[in-house]
Amino acid sequence: MEIIDEAKNIVLIGLMGSGKSAIGRTIAKKLGRRFIDTDRFIERKLGKTVPEIFEQESENLFRTIERETIKKVSQYIGIVIATGGGAAKDPENFKVLKESGWIIALYASPETLYKRIAGKKVRPLLLNQKDPVKVLEDILNDRKAMYAQADFQVSTENKEINEIADEIIDLLDTEKKVNYYS
Ligand code: S3P
Repeated sequence: MEIIDEAKNIVLIGLMGSGKSAIGRTIAKKLGRRFIDTDRFIERKLGKTVPEIFEQESENLFRTIERETIKKVSQYIGIVIATGGGAAKDPENFKVLKESGWIIALYASPETLYKRIAGKKVRPLLLNQKDPVKVLEDILNDRKAMYAQADFQVSTENKEINEIADEIIDLLDTEKKVNYYS
């Protein structure tokens, strides 16, 4: 039975490869909530994949649609939202998401993130980069101040998806806080 606040959204932020989508989907299933992945929402809306939007349109257009999407999905009540890794960097996005519920920042080291995403779905920000781990480090440094403002920070290192989903549900019940970003 769900004892955590049913009206509050559960919002996952964190770098690419931190597990937002898989963990979000698992939490939603466990709590019987609706799950929305903002990147998939954008892809359906434009009929293009995220890499196609970056390549054929622009990152700017992607960020504009991302802002509209965050506004829209934040109006739902009691859902689980997985954002794209860059969404929370925009202060307006962060504010809107925060007002809709809890924000959980998922953590993993740049090395771990790269191991997870190498050879998987194309990440436009890592395309044609000689040193992708360094790029991830730079992106992390650029975003960590925002991630640090999340209500909860959860490390995903050496843990299974199911275990992390349970940890987050437990956190929302008990509000035990730990910090990885600050
Ligand atoms: C981005 C992360 C991607 C996607 C886009 C930009 C970013 O989502 O939104 O490629 O700025 O970090 P994932 O975090 O799901 O890979």
